[in-house]
Amino acid sequence: MKKIQIIILLLLAMASVDMSAKTLVVYYSYTGNCHEIVQTLTSQIDADTLRIYPVDKTQHYEANNYALGTQLLNAIYADPTNPDSYPAIDPVTISLDDYSNYIIVTPLWWSHMAAILQTYLFHHGSEMAGKNVGLIVSSHSSGISGVVADAQRLVPEAEWMGNALWINNANHPNRESLIRNWLIAIDYDNLTAEVKGDINGDGEVTIGDVTALIDMLLSGDANHPQADCNNDSEVTIGDVTALIDYLLSGSWGTSR
Ligand SMILES: Cc1cc2nc3c(=O)[nH]c(=O)nc-3n(C[C@H](O)[C@H](O)[C@H](O)COP(=O)(O)O)c2cc1C
Repeated sequence: MKKIQIIILLLLAMASVDMSAKTLVVYYSYTGNCHEIVQTLTSQIDADTLRIYPVDKTQHYEANNYALGTQLLNAIYADPTNPDSYPAIDPVTISLDDYSNYIIVTPLWWSHMAAILQTYLFHHGSEMAGKNVGLIVSSHSSGISGVVADAQRLVPEAEWMGNALWINNANHPNRESLIRNWLIAIDYDNLTAEVKGDINGDGEVTIGDVTALIDMLLSGDANHPQADCNNDSEVTIGDVTALIDYLLSGSWGTSR
């Protein structure tokens, strides 16, 4: 009995309760186009947003034929693995752990990802490993292959949601339909659909979800859309047994 208690305690200690499989839109916008794109995007999907800001908000990146923007990018490409190569950004308090899907929205600067957003992804891109990541790029007219390469460098282990969406200046007024069609093309709804029993939001149902569910019940906060494993409209110990049953049998509601 004591052994079982110790095992349960160990499992509980290991449990990580991620309460949802949500989407976070991470973006930077200097002149406002990406901000408008994000507003349009979040009118079509349920997502939280994280806007990245540079520490120095006095800079005019476009001045002198975009000299400062160029200088920031040159510093990055001279030494891309050095944190000092990236411009300083305001601290971010949002934890990526709370999300399973991310959409990155960035301006294109000289065929690359805007330097400010590169800073954030340099430090946090690895936290998106194994998760669904989409990319939307806004440029005046240049093609986006360099930005896609930057995203792949900065978020190396992502499960990319199809091809990136490019919205150029001429198409910006049509962003509503462009974004809607892109979401259909990448099968966004299916990609991000929550999995019944996936309590910890890692996209699969395993023993980790049993411990997360027990943890949730012990914490008294059992309000999770995927936790009602036996479909009786409440979350109780019965859902833990239904979840264990599922793991043992491979399908929902077979035994007992
Ligand atoms: C420093 C800098 C460099 C840029 N370089 C390019 C470029 O090479 N090609 C292009 O088509 N647009 C370029 N642009 C324009 C932006 O990509 C475009 O205006 C974008 O929509 C800006 O997004 P934002 O309004 O969210 O900042 C550049 C803008 C800046 C500030």
